[in-house]
Amino acid sequence: MPIDLVALSTCTRCDLSLTRQRVVIGSGPASPALLVLGEAPGRSEDEGGEPFIGRSGQLLFRLLGEVGITRAECFVTNVVKCRPPNNRTPSAHELETCRPWLRAQLDDVRPRVVLALGNTAARSVFGYQQGIGLTHGRVTQLDSGPGLATYHPAAALRGGAAVLELMRADLQIVKSLVELP
Ligand code: URA
Ligand code: SF4
Repeated sequence: MPIDLVALSTCTRCDLSLTRQRVVIGSGPASPALLVLGEAPGRSEDEGGEPFIGRSGQLLFRLLGEVGITRAECFVTNVVKCRPPNNRTPSAHELETCRPWLRAQLDDVRPRVVLALGNTAARSVFGYQQGIGLTHGRVTQLDSGPGLATYHPAAALRGGAAVLELMRADLQIVKSLVELP
C-alpha cells in the first residue's frame, strides 16, 4: 500500500514534532538500486526539507559517485524523519515511534540494496548490537534484500583519511551488490 504522505508530513507521534521546521520524508525513484539511510535530519535538512543536502551529503554523494552510483538512482531517507534539537542522537522512544514510517517506506520503495550510515541507522535497520567499527561492511539480509552499514559521513568529516578509506571499501561492496543480476 502506498505510504500516506500527508499523514507523514504532518506527523505528531513524538515530541520531535514540537521543534522541527519540517518532516524530512526522503525521496527518490520507485524500485531504486539503493536506499540510503541516515540517522535524522540536520539543520540544513530541517530547513530545506530533503535529506543529506548539507556537508555530510556532499561527502556521501562524492564517495558514492566514485563507485558510479548517482543520487538520482538512490532513495534517500533517515530512520527518524524530524530533526532532534541540537542534532542530538534520537532517543529509543523516538526511534521506536518513527519506525513504522521507515517500515512502510521499505515495503513501498522496494530497494535492491539498503545502505545504513552510522550506528543509529545500522542498529535500527539491521538490529546490530555491536558498534559500527565491528559491523561496517557486513552483508545482512533484510526482507527487502541485502544491505550493509558503513560509517556516517559526519564521522568521516571528523575522522579523516582512515575513516574515508573504510567507507570506500564498504561502498565497493555496495556497488557489487547493486550490480548483482
Ligand atoms: N545526517 C543524517 O543522518 N541525515 C541527514 O539527512 C543529514 C545529515
Ligand atoms: Fe512523527 Fe517520526 Fe517526526 Fe516523530 S520523528 S514526529 S514519529 S515523523
